[in-house]
Amino acid sequence: MSSALTDLFPHPIVQAPMAGGPSGPQLAAAVSDAGGLGFLAAGYKTADGMYQEIKQLRGLTGRPFGVNVFVPQPENAESGAVDLYAQQLAGEATWYDTELGDREHGRDDGYDAKLAVLLDDPVPAVSFHFGVPAREVVDSLHRAGTFVLVTATTVEEALAVERSGADAVIAQGVEAGGHQGSHRNAVAHDGAGIGVLSLVAQVREATGVPVVAAGGIMRGGQIAAVLAAGASAAQLGTAFLATPESGAHALHKQALTDPLFTHTELTRAFSGRQARGLVNRFLREHGPYAPAAYPEVHHLTAPLRRAAAKAGDPQGMALWAGQGHRMARALPAGQLVEVLVAELGAAATALSARSAFGGDPR
Ligand SMILES: Cc1cc2nc3c(=O)[nH]c(=O)nc-3n(C[C@H](O)[C@H](O)[C@H](O)COP(=O)(O)O)c2cc1C
Repeated sequence: MSSALTDLFPHPIVQAPMAGGPSGPQLAAAVSDAGGLGFLAAGYKTADGMYQEIKQLRGLTGRPFGVNVFVPQPENAESGAVDLYAQQLAGEATWYDTELGDREHGRDDGYDAKLAVLLDDPVPAVSFHFGVPAREVVDSLHRAGTFVLVTATTVEEALAVERSGADAVIAQGVEAGGHQGSHRNAVAHDGAGIGVLSLVAQVREATGVPVVAAGGIMRGGQIAAVLAAGASAAQLGTAFLATPESGAHALHKQALTDPLFTHTELTRAFSGRQARGLVNRFLREHGPYAPAAYPEVHHLTAPLRRAAAKAGDPQGMALWAGQGHRMARALPAGQLVEVLVAELGAAATALSARSAFGGDPR
């Protein structure tokens, strides 16, 4: 059996895995060294690319860390819709002087090969996004001594995570930046997202597994709030995006606090799956009709996003961000962990002072 969550790292702070470049070995090492749990993102990487990062991270820190894996997606029934979307994006390809990507690029993200690496040379923690791994996968990771976490966005999904035998559920609220880790890419569920505080409390009541809260958490006071709601730790993505150790594009980092970007929305425009990003031109123009086809749309738009970044145009990039983006701080990641821990302590002190007044200090 794997160790308890709190045995892995002293502070209740998990640095969210962020595929596409932001969370590499430097960021994960800085967070783990500071007493949080750093994470590598294996999404969009080959099994070998993932393994190279694991080895690099081990050279940077002796502290525990995690690796995040995308669960393979079922065949999508909307290939006609992808063709239509490709036609609708033709003008973007002309504008950015590039071609659309290969939508048949592959569906499973190298899942089996990545699991084989993680079983062959185990890491302290593995988390899964976009679905629930098979019971045998969880069991074999446990035999390897690995702590297993799985994202859920609803109570029903959290119950499925519990049935899988996983050690913890990551309760991802609708505020979260990047992709919602919903177990199905169902349009029928759009707009039904639950806020993190409510989700944590509901998952705690419905399941017996420890909960890690994710979504919109930028300050230690918010960590105190999710712990009070029953979480064992908080997982922060956007808060770590702006740190110097984050590999996010400089324009992405700047955009988080740029008053030009006033708010975020969930969109399928860039990947075909619901993900929260800063509202920019591409999201506004294509979000309303982008099909529920992941990862086809992700591969289709990849060259557009790359070309926009190369051209220095944030209006064509996927600027993933949670609802708390304007509170991002460009502190070194280890220092950010320290500040969050101090804020958490201050919030706990304020709460106990409040209860000394019978809960009403007026
Ligand atoms: C840029 C970015 C990339 C992300 N990529 C992943 C990923 O690869 N795997 C994953 O499990 N979650 C991913 N997420 C979601 C986070 O795990 C987490 O749910 C989210 O960051 C929490 O919300 P916050 O960004 O408001 O803190 C990503 C989030 C962001 C902002």
